[in-house]
Amino acid sequence: MQIVILENAEAVATHGANVIIQKIKQKPDAVLGLATGSTPLALYRKLIEAKRSGDVSFLRSRSFNLDEYLGLPGDHPQSYRYFMQENLFNHIDIEPGNTHVPPGNAANPLKACEEYDELIETTGGIDLQLLGIGRNGHIGFNEPSSGLTSRTRVKTLTPATIEDNARFFGADEFQPHLSITMGIGTIMDSRKIILLATGDSKADAIRATVEGPLSASCPASALQMHKKAVLIIDEAAAAHLEHKEFYKHIERENQKLLQSLKQ
Ligand code: F6R
Repeated sequence: MQIVILENAEAVATHGANVIIQKIKQKPDAVLGLATGSTPLALYRKLIEAKRSGDVSFLRSRSFNLDEYLGLPGDHPQSYRYFMQENLFNHIDIEPGNTHVPPGNAANPLKACEEYDELIETTGGIDLQLLGIGRNGHIGFNEPSSGLTSRTRVKTLTPATIEDNARFFGADEFQPHLSITMGIGTIMDSRKIILLATGDSKADAIRATVEGPLSASCPASALQMHKKAVLIIDEAAAAHLEHKEFYKHIERENQKLLQSLKQ
């Protein structure tokens, strides 16, 4: 696992956006795995800016989102499909038909989960998966105790996640307690993964991800087994890492090596 520790949330967004932009430049029809939540918002704004300035085009790219609330149609303002339209898709040139979000209103959610995994596979697999992380170490809606090889499926949200996300719902509004989420195995099949985390509320989850045991009690710890997983985190999210200075040292050495190879 590569750990990139940056000064603040702004630097995390810039770094993450650059990884995605470089991928699209190198492979214009890349398949992106995308996330919702607060963390990627600044990154999405940077992708929109890059598209507007002509630096990058998403015309041939494809995307698969991690998760969706079960019971919400895509035009519901709290649905993750709606979130993606509002915060990214409506502002870049990606073909609408090339964007995929699990169908929250599927007549048969179990079948829809299988079909989602099949579609990812027939599209060629995910080249670059973007992740956030929950305070409890969840990735997608894979809550603690999720199988580390799980596939896309219906998952029940923990009370902690429901509480974290309650801020997006009105007091009397229906807030789903079920979701469709890519499984940890589905996520792990991605060729490269970047996980973004900012703020001190994520510091314990980041410590468990990097320095804890590989365990279903911290689903993100599965990334320890991925060949190309990069954590892009700010100082606040890195604060509880026991070996923080060593990770920074490794990164400096990596950068030096890359520079010397370019010369
Ligand atoms: C969202 C998702 C979740 C979030 C996580 C962090 O699609 O998969 O795992 O990444 O809950 O959310 P924020 O960024 O709001 O702290």
